[in-house]
Amino acid sequence: MNKPLVLITGKDGQLGYELSQIQENYSQFFDFLIVGRNELNLENTQEISEIIAKKNPKYFINCAAYTAVDKAETEKELAMAINATAPKAIAKACAAIDCNLIHISTDYVFDGNQQQPYLPLDLKNPINHYGLSKSLGEEAVLNNNNNSIIIRTSWVYSNHGKNFVKTMIQLMKTKESISVVNDQKGSPTYAKDLAVAILEIIKFSHVNKQQLKQKIYQFSNQGIISWFDFALEISKNLQSNCVVNATSSTSYPTPAKRSSYSAMYINEIFEDFNLEKIDWKTSLKNCIQIIDKQ
Ligand SMILES: NC(=O)c1ccc[n+]([C@@H]2O[C@H](COP(=O)([O-])OP(=O)(O)OC[C@H]3O[C@@H](n4cnc5c(N)ncnc54)[C@H](OP(=O)(O)O)[C@@H]3O)[C@@H](O)[C@H]2O)c1
Repeated sequence: MNKPLVLITGKDGQLGYELSQIQENYSQFFDFLIVGRNELNLENTQEISEIIAKKNPKYFINCAAYTAVDKAETEKELAMAINATAPKAIAKACAAIDCNLIHISTDYVFDGNQQQPYLPLDLKNPINHYGLSKSLGEEAVLNNNNNSIIIRTSWVYSNHGKNFVKTMIQLMKTKESISVVNDQKGSPTYAKDLAVAILEIIKFSHVNKQQLKQKIYQFSNQGIISWFDFALEISKNLQSNCVVNATSSTSYPTPAKRSSYSAMYINEIFEDFNLEKIDWKTSLKNCIQIIDKQ
């Protein structure tokens, strides 16, 4: 019997790459098709509808996104096309064939004025254009596909692609001292942990013969820290002599505003799908060990 097809976007991104690395572990349940920009350009809604109708996936995991937070302030239309218009087209095309949709979103839908973890249904109020485009993408998905879930994540890193961990490792190897902001707090996410969670979720749905039920989830590793804390732990893992100084966001003006607090309440995804939370320090160590071997 044919296995259900899982169609995944964002092949060359951090999360898409991690999914491609672990797909083999789920090959008894699913066939996988992981596409990059060359196979499916999300700027083209016609292409989106056509590939979904033609491939007839049972699960669609949308990892592709316009993620250049600062550039999004000037490339507003492009960010909106990829982060809001494309997810709407994906949701509609998936709904037409009863395909379950997992759409990835961000902590940046919140304004950061809160001092306790954001709940999934807390009021959204993005403070930059990337956040606004992702917030509209969430709504487009939920309004157009009843079998969709949103997974908001934060501070994503991996051994693949560009991210804070890899940048810090590079700087710590070449500089005597660096300064890192200590007035923005949130929770790091190892993309590999999120990739495992996503495939466990679709396995749960498949094994229990249940379509996904519409819901907003939030996922990160466990722990709420500042970028400075994150850098210090990276330095500890590297046994680096580079001095890490704490500084404030005012010393690092950026085109897009950043929120001072973006930690999210993550319990529901772990409870609903029997997943295990992983402490941020454990995941960081795991990732750095892989980077070391590269
Ligand atoms: N990175 C973070 O810290 C973070 C934080 C919160 C939430 N998220 C969310 O998590 C998800 C995964 O993020 P990530 O870190 O894996 O992002 P990423 O590494 O930046 O990867 C994004 C991927 O999207 C692809 N893409 C962009 N425009 C496209 C287009 N027009 N057509 C097809 N593909 C296109 C990119 O392709 P190319 O490689 O060809 O450019 C890239 O491979 C995204 O939804 C993101 O918004 C990320």
